[in-house]
Amino acid sequence: METTGGNRIEERDGPMHEPLKDGLGRRIEYIRVSLTHQCNYAYPFCMPSDLSRCHGTERSLSTSEILRLCRIFSRLGVGNFKITGGEPLLHPEATRILENLKREENVACVTVTTNASTLDRHAAQLADMGLDGVNVSLNAISDATYGKVTGRKLKVSRILRNIDLACRLGLNIKLNMVPLRGINEADIIPVLEFALERGIYVRFIELMPIGQGRSFSGLSMREVKRIIEKRFGSVELAAGRFGNGPAVYYTVNGHAAKIGYIAAVSEQFCNTCNRIRLSSTGFLKTCLHHNHGVELGIPLWNGASDDTLAALIRQAVAAKPAHHEFSLETGAGLGDVPMYRIGG
Ligand code: 5AD
Repeated sequence: METTGGNRIEERDGPMHEPLKDGLGRRIEYIRVSLTHQCNYAYPFCMPSDLSRCHGTERSLSTSEILRLCRIFSRLGVGNFKITGGEPLLHPEATRILENLKREENVACVTVTTNASTLDRHAAQLADMGLDGVNVSLNAISDATYGKVTGRKLKVSRILRNIDLACRLGLNIKLNMVPLRGINEADIIPVLEFALERGIYVRFIELMPIGQGRSFSGLSMREVKRIIEKRFGSVELAAGRFGNGPAVYYTVNGHAAKIGYIAAVSEQFCNTCNRIRLSSTGFLKTCLHHNHGVELGIPLWNGASDDTLAALIRQAVAAKPAHHEFSLETGAGLGDVPMYRIGG
């Protein structure tokens, strides 16, 4: 927070002046905000097959409540917002929320993660508001495999068209792919080629043993690297830092686009974790794997002030777990919140 300049000084005297840090001194500056649990896809590694379980009757935060909490986070120094879901663009006010967030004075960066199935309807608005990025989950590029990973009979060509449209409109697109053993391995190179041809970054993510993900086998980053090197020769570590996340980026022979690896399982990066997650029902989750956190919806609905909510946030963040326990085969109670409810 600045040391000069009118009204910000007042904040420095309130409970919001200290940037948010956890008990281990990690600065928390990134939040994933889920707008909805609902998704029009049914990724088998993300959603339970019994879809009725996905449409609960719990109270969700309203648009103004989401924006109010986001403002509190931003005043605590959390400047980077990833809007997620479920599928966030299914929320009827998704673009309004994004637009308002973009206008918040302490917000540095607003991005959205989507399956791109409705990007044709939203891309122009997202580009106009100056959204900082769109991460598209593209877990396959052939219709048969796309159907298998999304649980829906869909033409992937429509998704690719939507991606191209978004690129033409100037949106900063990144692709995300989770390589799954025996399911979409053959699509790794075609997805990568699609990205490289367009100068789009692609990130390969190790499947995390969370919720439905525990029933599948993900490829390790080492295995993915080997597949890519077989096709492109050696890949080189890219100098510099890209994005707000834990991806490590590589370049392949002369291409401008980079390949990112997010090796949450084989190369734990919790010691530099800078993030927290807010669910659409108002639960602040301080670790992707552990169930630690605090309900913010209930106090908010009961009339809590911004200062009280900020104090609850600080308290929860102070107790943020040191690291995930993915290597534990049966961490009782760990990783049992399904990913579609966490927001990735
Ligand atoms: N591990 C890693 N990523 C996951 N996603 C969902 N479940 C998992 C998991 N267990 C993310 C991926 C995927 C999108 C649907 O959500 O990015 O493409």
